[in-house]
Amino acid sequence: MVEEPSGEVVPAALPEHHFRQSVARGLSGRLLVLTVIFVMIAEVLIFVPSVANFRNVWLQGHLDTAEAASIVYLDDSGIMLSQEAQEHLLMATRSLQVSIRDGSVSRLMASGPAPGPVTEHISLGTMQPMSTLRSAFSTLLFGGERVYHVSGPMKSGDAAIELVQEDKYLRNAMLNYSRNILLISLVISLITAGLVFLALYWLIVRPIIRISSNMDAFSQHPEDTALVYRPTGRGDEIGIAEARLSSLQKDLQATLRQKQHLAELGLAVSKINHDLRNILASAYLFSDRLTGVADPTVQRLAPKLVKTIDRAVEYTRSVLAYGKAVERPPELRKHRLHALVEEVGETLLVEKPDHVDWRNTVPGDLEVSCDWENLFRAILNLCRNAVQAMETLPEDGRQLSLEIAANTTSRGTTIRIADTGPGVPEAAREKLFTAFQGSAKSGGTGLGLAIASELVRGHGGSIELEETGPQGSVFRIDLPAGGGQPAIEAPGK
Ligand SMILES: Nc1ncnc2c1ncn2[C@@H]1O[C@H](COP(=O)(O)OP(=O)(O)O)[C@@H](O)[C@H]1O
Ligand SMILES: [Mg+2]
Repeated sequence: MVEEPSGEVVPAALPEHHFRQSVARGLSGRLLVLTVIFVMIAEVLIFVPSVANFRNVWLQGHLDTAEAASIVYLDDSGIMLSQEAQEHLLMATRSLQVSIRDGSVSRLMASGPAPGPVTEHISLGTMQPMSTLRSAFSTLLFGGERVYHVSGPMKSGDAAIELVQEDKYLRNAMLNYSRNILLISLVISLITAGLVFLALYWLIVRPIIRISSNMDAFSQHPEDTALVYRPTGRGDEIGIAEARLSSLQKDLQATLRQKQHLAELGLAVSKINHDLRNILASAYLFSDRLTGVADPTVQRLAPKLVKTIDRAVEYTRSVLAYGKAVERPPELRKHRLHALVEEVGETLLVEKPDHVDWRNTVPGDLEVSCDWENLFRAILNLCRNAVQAMETLPEDGRQLSLEIAANTTSRGTTIRIADTGPGVPEAAREKLFTAFQGSAKSGGTGLGLAIASELVRGHGGSIELEETGPQGSVFRIDLPAGGGQPAIEAPGK
């Protein structure tokens, strides 16, 4: 990567050392070697039959030469060739003896120095391919000082030409031929390998290097949008990998942004919480003084004010103490649910419009094992949402209601919070209980239901939207019997 003067990080052109590295150790280097090996193997497969064929052609050539000379001899039947002519013939055919066999009669046409013992009889035209191969390799590997006898039918007539030859000439010719084949093979394989290498380097290795250096750069600065991989638009497997990488990086950046947002929010909440505590402490002192005022309204509201501020101080304290996003673990005791719901009603009293009926139909003797503060907050959140939703309805004289009901079975207690509001908007339904995701109203945080759900789950219970529609919504809280833990009888409540 190159650090530009502007500070922006841009992908550098592929550096030279990348090329050398990848040839030496990488994919393309290995492919280069493999291609050379494969082409050589193919050449060997071609070489084996072709060297045997070469040998046959060589032998046939000399038989043909002898046959051409024999025409003179046959015309002149009975007369021996002159010594000089014989020597010429022997030279031309690289033979020690040339003879013509007609049926069982063999006539010597030319002969030079006495040949050593003949080790092989080769009869051209009648040999099987396998034995041709074997005999060719025997010449190539072990020949050089042997003498063989070769015969082949003449083109005209029934007679056959026979030669006795030292195999050194044949062997030398074959070695020459092999050397040429080897050289040609090497050249072909190098050219092929080079082309294959270049093609692969261009098509595969280079893009892979590009992708992996982008990965390196991205992992160093995952928040930098300029580093998101730009796919080249290829349609093949590498193109698909490029597109996936790119979308993966985009997803990762979105997640990172969200995480960062949450972290900043957490810090902000901690700061607010910290100073709010002090402010609330002063408010608490002021409202405490109000209890001394004789006015009956003040007398009725002041204790509620004190209690509410007290509660707020307690929340800020517990949030600071338990920090993070985790709620204080519930302290389970047996409480009368009716009284708890009544307190929710009193707290809501001030915000609730007059045309909303508050109905607490929880049986007076119904007891639940719960943490008073936590369950209070959960139900308060649900009720406040209901009131807020109903406030959005146009006032058409219709009486609205918010009813809290509960019943107990052997499995636990079910609490229903039913309103006659407009119903939960479609957009909010899917992630209703996920923090920051469920809000569908402006100014909403999407935290209320997430908090309620967490508090209820702390009791081992669950919360769900049971019904919703234009006629209203019902939220249901299920608390397990005994709250999952033995409840302690609460003193006084
Ligand atoms: N009783 C209800 N009636 C209609 N809509 C509701 C009701 N309760 C919750 N909602 C919808 O669910 C959303 C999420 O609620 P909540 O988690 O408390 O977040 P917030 O109140 O901050 O928006 C609300 O914005 C609202 O649109
Ligand atoms: Mg809310």
